[in-house]
Amino acid sequence: MKRYCLILVLYLISSSRADISNKYFPESFQFGAAGAAYQIEGGWNEDGKGENIWDHFLHYNVSGKVVDDSNGDVACDSYHKWQEDVDNLKQLGVKLYRFSISWSRILPDGTPYQVNQKGIDYYLNLIKALKQNGIEPVITLYHWDLPQHLSEFGGWLNPQISDYFAAYARICFENFGPYVKYWTTINEPLSTCVIGYAQGLHAPGYYLIDGGMYQCAYVSLLAHAKAWHIYDEEFRAQQGGKVGISLACGAQLPFDPNSAQDQEAAERNYQMGCGWVGNPIYFGNWPQVMIDRIAAKSKQDNYPFSRLPEFTQEEIEFIKGTNDFLPLNYYTSALVQYADEWTGAPSYWLDINVQTFANESWPKSASDWLTSYPEGLRILLNRINKDYNPGEIIIAENGWSDNGELDDQGRLTYIQAHLSAILESILEDGVNVSGYTVWSLMDNFEWAEGYTQRFGIIKVDFDDPQRTRTWKSSAKYYQNVVATRCLLDQCQ
Ligand code: NOJ
Repeated sequence: MKRYCLILVLYLISSSRADISNKYFPESFQFGAAGAAYQIEGGWNEDGKGENIWDHFLHYNVSGKVVDDSNGDVACDSYHKWQEDVDNLKQLGVKLYRFSISWSRILPDGTPYQVNQKGIDYYLNLIKALKQNGIEPVITLYHWDLPQHLSEFGGWLNPQISDYFAAYARICFENFGPYVKYWTTINEPLSTCVIGYAQGLHAPGYYLIDGGMYQCAYVSLLAHAKAWHIYDEEFRAQQGGKVGISLACGAQLPFDPNSAQDQEAAERNYQMGCGWVGNPIYFGNWPQVMIDRIAAKSKQDNYPFSRLPEFTQEEIEFIKGTNDFLPLNYYTSALVQYADEWTGAPSYWLDINVQTFANESWPKSASDWLTSYPEGLRILLNRINKDYNPGEIIIAENGWSDNGELDDQGRLTYIQAHLSAILESILEDGVNVSGYTVWSLMDNFEWAEGYTQRFGIIKVDFDDPQRTRTWKSSAKYYQNVVATRCLLDQCQ
């Protein structure tokens, strides 16, 4: 019996390996790792940092907002342990480190009135240490941690926030720009707009399911475009970097590939997800299906206007063409089934109105939304390349959650298979993917899931005041991939 089991296991390993590309990554391809300020830094009130919406959300009436009632007050303590993070990146051999700047560490109340030099120094030290070790900083300006003061101004629902964001971006370009080649303005605007402003599950915790997310996306796009134009006009000539907004997308596959209704539903789901931000950036306006559906539903619900804000012609011209490169976050894909139309209170879900599933055969992670379908990444890359022709793409996030085991074979297999899909997209399909920053360098604060779902290739012991870091199997594997540019024991 034991022998049969062994044979089966060996067969499974070799059969899954058979799908992995045995080609080398091009010399120009850059490997990296990622993280974000609130999820790793801690030091929430140190050295002049102001309060942000996550500090506020998780310091008052906390119970139930995060599954383990935790917060990011200390997190991985990267505010103090950044040198160790740089050491780990160096040991991994990576050439990119994607991290975000905490807005309220630089501008305590979010406005340009007061600049906190200690905050500037923290990031300058980090950036310089990275550069000394041949690691390129890939900086996100906004990874979901709005200064609380600006939230009280209306946050991402108030168009004026785009001016505050632009002012903050200018201060970052001035101070850090000489060392930075890649800027991401806003990380996954839709995730924060839907979860924070429609479902109320993330900070600032608003349940505005009829329109909060549309207004938030509109203001986010204006903010991004303002920052892009500032870079373009005032900094690009000297600094020569690239600015982009990140998209979070997955392939949307018809549940029944032969059903015209499922095909239409899958396309609609793709447009109302990926296209919601992608279309304005590349074509100037929301996807037509989104404009039409939300206008019709708004009318049906007695609104004298659409719940989806309309861009003026001037805004369309201003937003269109504002990605110098595409930071793309890919985790998973979906099977999409048509659902009969029904009436109910106006809501985001009713506006889309489809059923989504994961295929039974896709391996499951510790997060209910995350299953592994690497082919979806290749399908997506081809689609995005064809529709948007974005030039350079960096896979800015891609990763796997588990319960924190050191021998994390699930993550290792996920990373291997997704890198293989990327390599095939580059070599077979001619898609210009120039880099990959795995999510995440280390275990961190996973928002409403607290510390219960782990994404790191390096373990962090959150019970230890030292926040000790230990390499997992996936980190050792990744180190080898980075060194050899090969996903298997041998490549050709
Ligand atoms: C996307 C977000 O950018 C990141 O903050 C989060 O931790 C990962 N996805 C995993 O959920």
